[in-house]
Amino acid sequence: MDKKFKRTTVTSALPYANGPVHIGHLAGVYVPADIYVRYLRLKGEDVIFIGGSDEHGVPVTIRAKKEGITPQDVVDRYHKIIKDSFKEFGISFDIYSRTTSNVHHKLASDFFRTLYDKGEFIEKSCEQYYDEEAKQFLADRYIVGECPRCHAQGAYGDQCEKCGSTLSPEELINPVSKLSGAKPVKKETKHWFLPLNKHQDWLKKWILEDHKEWRSNVYGQCKSWLDMDLLPRAVTRDLEWGIPVPVEGAEGKVLYVWFDAPIGYISNTKELCDANPEKYGKWEKWWKEEDTRLIHFIGKDNIVFHCIVFPAMLKAEGSYILPDNVPSNEFLNLEGDKISTSRNWAVWLNEYLVDFPGKQDTLRYVLTANAPETKDNDFTWKDFQARNNNELVAIYGNFVNRALVLTQKYFDGHVPALNEMTDYDKATLQEFADVKERLEQLLDNFKFRDAQKEAMNLARIGNKYLAETEPWKLSKTDMERTAAILHIALQIAANLAIAFEPFLPFSSEKLRQMLNMSSFEWNNLGRIDLLKTGDQLEKPELLFEKIEDEAIDGQIQRLERIKKENEVSNWQPEPIHGESTIDDFSKLDIRVGTVLECQKVKKSDKLLQFKIDDGLGGRTILSGIAKSYPDPQELVGKQICFVANFPVRKMMGIESQGMILSAVNADGNLSVITPSRTIANGAEVG
Ligand code: 2FM
Ligand code: ZN
Repeated sequence: MDKKFKRTTVTSALPYANGPVHIGHLAGVYVPADIYVRYLRLKGEDVIFIGGSDEHGVPVTIRAKKEGITPQDVVDRYHKIIKDSFKEFGISFDIYSRTTSNVHHKLASDFFRTLYDKGEFIEKSCEQYYDEEAKQFLADRYIVGECPRCHAQGAYGDQCEKCGSTLSPEELINPVSKLSGAKPVKKETKHWFLPLNKHQDWLKKWILEDHKEWRSNVYGQCKSWLDMDLLPRAVTRDLEWGIPVPVEGAEGKVLYVWFDAPIGYISNTKELCDANPEKYGKWEKWWKEEDTRLIHFIGKDNIVFHCIVFPAMLKAEGSYILPDNVPSNEFLNLEGDKISTSRNWAVWLNEYLVDFPGKQDTLRYVLTANAPETKDNDFTWKDFQARNNNELVAIYGNFVNRALVLTQKYFDGHVPALNEMTDYDKATLQEFADVKERLEQLLDNFKFRDAQKEAMNLARIGNKYLAETEPWKLSKTDMERTAAILHIALQIAANLAIAFEPFLPFSSEKLRQMLNMSSFEWNNLGRIDLLKTGDQLEKPELLFEKIEDEAIDGQIQRLERIKKENEVSNWQPEPIHGESTIDDFSKLDIRVGTVLECQKVKKSDKLLQFKIDDGLGGRTILSGIAKSYPDPQELVGKQICFVANFPVRKMMGIESQGMILSAVNADGNLSVITPSRTIANGAEVG
């Protein structure tokens, strides 16, 4: 760490408590933040790691309405689920609190009031949509209408989910209120705005000149904002759910969720420090002292709030430090498609733990190996399996297991002596002499993906060493040499336990216990005296297990099912075909009949052969719907509709006397049309 800093405050974006968290959250924010914090802690640095739930905002109220419960019920439920998931994955927050806490309400409210008293806001009246039936102003998400771009129905006031356009409620064609279905009217309302334009000059210098070292994706996004004229941003809303605006004449208004949420980092620090003053000291030191370094871990959709809006708030308040870095990731996709909560296109952490119990480190490893650090990246189940089986099991796990099992076998679990080293031993040790330096260089620069590769490289060195020296063969002739080899292998294993701790904390803990390591410090990395000759080791256990095809196939099938369901629910009817007349229609003779027999046509996987009672003596009809009716017997006895006056056609040597009417679904599934009541066979449809 840069010498001018004495301590580090690490924050990770507060997830909305309106749904569980998925792998995208873990990969984008929480695993990298946790790696960084664990690394600093292992180095003995002074660091706090702040997390918590973001519990205000419109999406919470929408979910509550949908489920007929209160917003508080919604956030209570998801705060617990999210907090538990993070704990299970070893995300080592010092505190995971919530923005509905009393501490936060007071601190956020005071923060607003300070800015208000300092004259840092602009008060402005503007016109906004209002629902006269529900008697409330409408948040953008509460207004739906026709998209002005793609003309889909049901577009929201802030976005059309069909074509992805960002919208404003004024642009919607025929807007209606989601609350009552009424047509909203424009009504005047007053709000407080943070004049970002007033902050533009110093923000430009601070980011574009003084923080050129920020990741290029973060720097680039800030630059494109700062190259335009920043505008005042409303920091209050007409809503019931949130922190009341602490100003006279602001009844019925709350702080905008993006105003209060980042203050949540400060409130949670205060809650932590006030409860543990001996351990953490005063909260102000983590936020107000120049020798504190503030780092925000976030996803790319949060960049503008953390690099521009929140710093402007902190600067306007006047007593806070600004972030030193904002290592934001891009997005993680799932099997080639954008992760989407509403389409259920995600791997949910709570579900992963049910399907892969005890395999938290595998997911952490894969998400870091594929971390979307500089560009969007993809998670696939096949890659997950391959990385587990070919890297964690075959390299790291295999090496450690061989070293420990052979020590158990030949030396009764005691670290054997290293009397003499060969040139090959020395060359091997040389290969990882600078592992600490290399890892630090990468971790200090937030390059977690490359850092983990470096740690895995150490396991590769160990694996290769055992493969080349073959102590299992030597043990028959040269016990002294076998001892030396295993001594070196065990020292590499001890190094691995330390090097992997930030990335794979559960496996490192297991390995550390198997090796009985008394001290466990980052600064010892690269040393070859981490274990002493004669030390007793514990019984070896496997660090990682192979993942079989069935487990992966199950996950892939689940996603395929979801994709199908989404296709069906996204299905839009075909546009109405060109005009037709009653004369055209009356040329078709459509009749009702009862299915007497129905079976598959031999050698055809498409055709079903129907015997129909058509009220006219019976007929045979072939229909290409076999795939939709794997059990054709289900149709026997049903009434169907058929075109009776098509010319006879011969297929697979059978004459078909008509066409059975069916409707087709988005996924290609067909359903025959049946009359809603029993009707005489032969009755005309018209
Ligand atoms: O995008 C989100 O999920 C927000 N809830 C992040 C808030 S980060 C911070 F400001 F609290
Ligand atoms: Zn659209």
